Amino acid sequence: MVCLGNICRSPLAEGILKEKIKENGLPWEVDSAGTGSWHVGEPPDPRSVAVARAHGIDILDQRARQFRPADFRQFDLIFAMDASNYQNILRMAPSGTDTSKVELIMNVVDPGRNRAVPDPYWDDNGFEGVFRMLDEACERIIQRHARG
Ligand code: 4NP
Repeated sequence: MVCLGNICRSPLAEGILKEKIKENGLPWEVDSAGTGSWHVGEPPDPRSVAVARAHGIDILDQRARQFRPADFRQFDLIFAMDASNYQNILRMAPSGTDTSKVELIMNVVDPGRNRAVPDPYWDDNGFEGVFRMLDEACERIIQRHARG
């Protein structure tokens, strides 16, 4: 799960998908990262922590890290929150085949629409909507891959 800072959107995506993985008893590994380095080592934004907690999910133990090309070796699927993240991730792909691992996360809900998960950093009221978008996307990811 990749966004810009790895403190608002992708920590929520990581927490939500991990929760669903636990509920479904799946042996999946999930992590999140940011394309930028400003917040490396920091816990998630308090507003993300609060909205996750309101939905019964604890993300406080997460720490921000920067996305790196080696992530293409470690992970089968790489979900970007918006078009900017998507382009920045693709630029780091070690090979052409690696680019097929990268997908805009909301395209699992609305294929081909290229909807962005809006950056809520400057919008205190944006976090609940971001949570709902990511919850729907993570539910689809579970459905799409768990029975595959
Ligand atoms: P995120 O949100 O990419 O969802 O973690 C942001 C967090 C920090 C900044 C931008 C977006 N920032 O500019 O520091």
